[in-house]
Amino acid sequence: MEKLLIEGSTRLEGEISISGAKNSALAIMPATILSGSECIIKNLPSIRDVVYLRDMLMQLGAKVHILDSDKISVDSSAIKSYKIDAELAKKMRASYYFLGALLGRFKKAEVPFPGGCEIGVRPIDLHIKGLEALGAKIKISHGVIKASATELIGAHIYLDVVSVGATINIMLAACMAKGVTTIENSAKEPYIVDTANLLNAMGANIKGAGTDVIRIKGVDSLGGCEHTIIPDQMEAGTYMIAAAATKGNVLIKNVIPTHLESITAKLREMNVEVQEHEDSVRVIAASKLKAVNIKTLPYPGFPTDMQQPMSVLLALADGTSVVTENIFESRFKYLDELKKMGAKIRVEGRVAIIDGVHRLSGAPIYATDLRAGAAMVVAGLVADGKTIVSNIGHIDRGYERLEEKLINLGARIRRIQED
Ligand code: UD1
Repeated sequence: MEKLLIEGSTRLEGEISISGAKNSALAIMPATILSGSECIIKNLPSIRDVVYLRDMLMQLGAKVHILDSDKISVDSSAIKSYKIDAELAKKMRASYYFLGALLGRFKKAEVPFPGGCEIGVRPIDLHIKGLEALGAKIKISHGVIKASATELIGAHIYLDVVSVGATINIMLAACMAKGVTTIENSAKEPYIVDTANLLNAMGANIKGAGTDVIRIKGVDSLGGCEHTIIPDQMEAGTYMIAAAATKGNVLIKNVIPTHLESITAKLREMNVEVQEHEDSVRVIAASKLKAVNIKTLPYPGFPTDMQQPMSVLLALADGTSVVTENIFESRFKYLDELKKMGAKIRVEGRVAIIDGVHRLSGAPIYATDLRAGAAMVVAGLVADGKTIVSNIGHIDRGYERLEEKLINLGARIRRIQED
């Protein structure tokens, strides 16, 4: 079994370049199905989830060619199947985007219930309600969601919970529906704008992506396109936090600084210096970190995905911080691992109270999910002595060349095989 061995107490210094956004890639790859033609996708992150999606596209009959380490072409003209393989689907959560994409193109989709990180109940009722509003009949049998429609017709859809996945899935299905679809209370994450830009480049008519009302005017057909994925806000945020935690000084390149505002603001509140440039940010650690409170919210609020790495920083701050997790109910499991390293934390429901300590000490710890895995790595970099992080498959699902990027910044981290 692969694990990460980290020798801690290192100061991260230097420059790092951020890869394409995982959450954009996870929507954009299934979305290529709608084109019925060839799409070239650039700045695609080299992560495990992308490999799973490539396998799913090929299993459906798409021709996928790797043109470069971060560039692929997907020709979906030959796709005949509308069924996603159960073994592949359960490896990740975003397999649900095949529902909207296949339904939009073929008016039929069979997608097993998704897997992914266990951070709460994670229902997909809003996806289903949205697709039903467009005229799809949905049946669930033996763990498979079966959607079909004679035709999809535009509708007014109000999401009572702000959901990234439901917003994108409805957008995918609505592109070629008859008439106009309006999604009210839609999510505003940059991935939604990125996916809408891809779909518009294919010939769709989507307006308002990035606001809380999206209007989609159905078109008869879509075609091929070229699209460059935006930089990964969460990868950038992770390295910003790692730089601050290790008393480092790191230039984080290939980012869109406005996407990082909520993280930048919190770091500054903690006394960390963040310099914003056109497409990069420099993070210079503070000699003393100030405790702050965090509440996770949909974009542009503080992202739930950064709650975990940020808690490592708060564990080292001067004073008591209160972290409120508003999006996912079980996103505190990793705090037990952090406590093994000496952090002082108590959890009361959706609130974690963190009393800062002066140091963490290396320990064998477990990555309970993807972002928790990143948090464990940040903790290992700071801690005294050796940390061994197990269950790192989660990290590989979402971080491109993590060890290589960290080693370039001076970290002592390597992959080991251990039972
Ligand atoms: C996406 C991101 C994930 C991020 C999350 C919140 C991808 C692939 N994943 O996940 O990294 O942590 O947004 O920013 O982009 N909900 C329902 N019913 C539904 C769907 C969601 O009640 O049908 C609830 C969820 O339980 C959660 C909230 O809505 O409480 C937000 O979830 P959502 O935005 O849908 O998260 P994902 O799209 O799964």
